[in-house]
Amino acid sequence: MKILTNATNAVDSKVNARRQIVYELISGGTGLALALFMFGHVVLVGSILTGERGFDWMATMLEDYYIAQPTIAAIFALFIVHAIVASRKIPAQLDERRRMIALAKGLKNAGRDKVPSRRDNSPFVPHLESMLWIWQVRTGMVMLVLGSFHLVLLGMDIFTPLFGDHAGIESSTSLARVAAGLWLPYGILLLCVEFHASVGLYRLAVKWGSGFLPHRRHLHRIEQVIFWVVLGLGAITLLVLAGVLSPPLEFLLSEGAS
Ligand code: HEM
Repeated sequence: MKILTNATNAVDSKVNARRQIVYELISGGTGLALALFMFGHVVLVGSILTGERGFDWMATMLEDYYIAQPTIAAIFALFIVHAIVASRKIPAQLDERRRMIALAKGLKNAGRDKVPSRRDNSPFVPHLESMLWIWQVRTGMVMLVLGSFHLVLLGMDIFTPLFGDHAGIESSTSLARVAAGLWLPYGILLLCVEFHASVGLYRLAVKWGSGFLPHRRHLHRIEQVIFWVVLGLGAITLLVLAGVLSPPLEFLLSEGAS
């Protein structure tokens, strides 16, 4: 009887392990696809840096060749699948994290009257990897709300004539809505997306690339460079969309340049 129970347990854990690998592959694959899309998105929306002509040319070209329409549907599907699969670990680990913080606080305060409070010497200095993970969960939650709103808005813009003169993205409507107040949610979304994407790529590289990719420390440096460069480009784009900055590359498409 005991042998039979042990055999059943072994089969169960094998099935469970296989299922976990499938989940890891789906969350990693969808995350990688979304991160790569976001880098492309910075370039496409960044066409506003060349002025309204460049932005409208880019949007019309993507819509006329039926690239934008299936892309928005595919990105929305990837976005939802990624959120569902990647969030399966959240409750247990967040709970463990909360207990760990409470334990660290309790132990720190317990000896407060005897040990001088020296923050730097505390054995409970937050572990970098854990902090990155916690912030990835937080930014993911913000993205789920603001990203869904953005995708629904853009979906309506592409498929219906609700915004602007006709169905499709137009520089005049994009500029008007960002200047009217969308700069704030977009600013928060931008920060969350760039953090989430660069840390996500770093974690993927550590998880699947150990042994043949550079050391963790170097990967972390690369992650920081990607974060700051893409955030900088996105921030300049957002300032132009909000009308705070005039398009710095407008001279490239001006009449005199052609
Ligand atoms: C195919 C899907 C997408 C399309 C067609 C698209 C298109 C656009 C357009 C046209 C803008 C300019 C502002 C506006 O018109 O409202 C914009 C801005 C923005 N989008 Fe998207 N977007 C897509 C997916 C996403 C996703 C999945 C995210 C992140 C979750 C995102 C994050 C942002 C951010 C943060 C901005 C602010 C501008 C910036 O600094 O880059 N977008 N997008």
